[in-house]
Amino acid sequence: MGFVAVCKASSIRDGEGKGFSVGGRDFAVFRCGEELHAVSSLCTHALADLSQGSVDRVRHRVECPLHGAEFDLRTGEALSPPAALSLQVFAVKVEGGQVLVDLSGKQPG
Ligand code: FES
Repeated sequence: MGFVAVCKASSIRDGEGKGFSVGGRDFAVFRCGEELHAVSSLCTHALADLSQGSVDRVRHRVECPLHGAEFDLRTGEALSPPAALSLQVFAVKVEGGQVLVDLSGKQPG
């Protein structure tokens, strides 16, 4: 599928996430300062919506709003129980003020 434009970069505030559903994929884009992170938005424990979770913008983490599992937004790694499986990470970039997410699912870098 490649990169798709999902929203204006300015619409995601620092320390917050925004959820999207495109092409059958549910994902969220989070802002931690100048960095944007795109990960699958369904918690790997019981499918809560992580875009509603609490963001630690300094450590680049999100806490699941349902049972409190923490995930690393840069790697997708599940850092604390009850989640054990990692989130999928998507490459994300900003062009012309638009956020573009690579839904082909390749790891960034
Ligand atoms: S649904 Fe996220 S920790 Fe349970």
